[in-house]
Amino acid sequence: MWRASVITIFPEMFPGPLGLSLAGKAQQKGIWALDAIDLRGYAPDKHRTVDDTPAGGGPGMVMKADVIARAIDAVASQDVSSGRPRLLMSPRGVPLTQGRVASLAQGQGVVLLCGRFEGVDERVIKGRNLEEVSLGDYVLSGGEIAAMALIDACVRLLPGVMGKEGSAAEESFADGLLEYPQYTRPQVFEGQAIPEVLVSGDHAKVAAWRRAEAERMTAARRPDLWAARPGQKPGK
Ligand SMILES: C[S@@+](CC[C@H](N)C(=O)[O-])C[C@H]1O[C@@H](n2cnc3c(N)ncnc32)[C@H](O)[C@@H]1O
Repeated sequence: MWRASVITIFPEMFPGPLGLSLAGKAQQKGIWALDAIDLRGYAPDKHRTVDDTPAGGGPGMVMKADVIARAIDAVASQDVSSGRPRLLMSPRGVPLTQGRVASLAQGQGVVLLCGRFEGVDERVIKGRNLEEVSLGDYVLSGGEIAAMALIDACVRLLPGVMGKEGSAAEESFADGLLEYPQYTRPQVFEGQAIPEVLVSGDHAKVAAWRRAEAERMTAARRPDLWAARPGQKPGK
């Protein structure tokens, strides 16, 4: 079973949205499991302190290396599925991509550390080989929402979660392209009709139109993705 172990000072935030919809049903079916681990449980003092002032001064607080190391070591010692990657959600990290999500979904799960305050003591990042993963170039107030996003993206790719109705093969980022535009009834909405080809019943033409639209949108909206596909020209 794919397992996400999340180390956080807010375990009560979980499962949150992961308990609903596709992810929630998949969890009930036993396709994946979630452990929300309270970091404060690994603080040795009676105040359950997890942070301290930054060395060198400056604003805010830094999460303590020793407390985090104890939590990570405890997860590792109980880990039946050893070898799960240990990820620190961090705006300094490598931006998460669908490719990375797919490879994480193929593994045994993840151990995720959620930062808070000014972040995490650098020594535990090095000492416990934490891989820093970012959700994007903006700053959240904590790693929990980032962890939920990562888990959600992985869980929907697990076998048996999406079913026939959701095909990952045609979604955005499959084949390095954004997804083509989607339509459904009514046939005309506020004067805009569904493109003729989509109601033609000609499957080959529909497929060609979708491919061309995906290419056109990718070239227009995400030149970075488009540039990564050398030799491609936008469809008409
Ligand atoms: C307020 S942020 C700390 C930001 C840090 N001082 C910096 O400038 O890089 C607190 C925590 O939120 C999480 N976080 C914030 N932005 C994130 C992002 N874009 N991706 C992943 N995690 C993020 C991280 O776990 C981080 O340690």
